Amino acid sequence: MNQETWTAVDGYFQERVLAPDRALQAAVEASERAGLPAIQVTPLQGKLLMLLAQLHGSRSILEIGTLGAYSTIWLARALPEDGKLVTLEVNPKHADVARANLARAGVAERVEIRIGQALDSLAELARQGRGPFDFVFVDADKEHNAEYLEWALKLTGPGSVIVVDNVVRHGAVVDASSRDASVVGTRRFVERLAAEPRVSATAVQIVGSKGYDGMVIARVL
Ligand code: SAH
Ligand code: DHB
Ligand code: MG
Repeated sequence: MNQETWTAVDGYFQERVLAPDRALQAAVEASERAGLPAIQVTPLQGKLLMLLAQLHGSRSILEIGTLGAYSTIWLARALPEDGKLVTLEVNPKHADVARANLARAGVAERVEIRIGQALDSLAELARQGRGPFDFVFVDADKEHNAEYLEWALKLTGPGSVIVVDNVVRHGAVVDASSRDASVVGTRRFVERLAAEPRVSATAVQIVGSKGYDGMVIARVL
């Protein structure tokens, strides 16, 4: 099995289970034109996020790490008409691209982008008494994933869902001697998760057009 196969299989399923989608396509193109890194979730992963939020009946969603709002659009589509999504982004240029993409997708009024270091924005959300959020998608800098789990727990309640992206990194997660900051951060997050009595969690390894990675999926107890 190799990248060529994973990409071909992603294409095979994309053509069959995903409808052509101009807003999502335009979001990818606008992000690329603006020079954003092409690290958004894949189309099949985006739909997985939407389906999880729909199956759960989520009405309020918190996302940490917006980029060009590709995953944000998928998640916003899971919401009912009066649902709300807050997404956190440190880079104002990313937020500008995201805002335009969200407007084009017709979900702008359901989505609030907060610009700043996610740790500051999370503290601000807590101060403002926001939450509990039904669903949290953690997908920013991997160094702070342990802290993001802590904040996610403060901003959710029993039955909420927490999904954390990029926890496998081509298998690098099992390298205890890694000095890669995102691997170190992921391993610190996993240790915290393992010791955390307030969640029930699993990990899903994923291959596809973005390579070999995975997500942690957890339910708050
Ligand atoms: N969720 C997006 C991809 C996010 S990429 C998608 O799948 O479509 C990670 C994003 O997190 C980048 O835009 C980056 O600027 C942002 N980010 C990195 N560190 C951050 C921090 N400390 N606080 C907030 N955002 C951060
Ligand atoms: C990176 C970040 C992501 O959120 C992702 O899905 C893939 C890669 C990165 O920082 O390299
Ligand atoms: Mg990611």
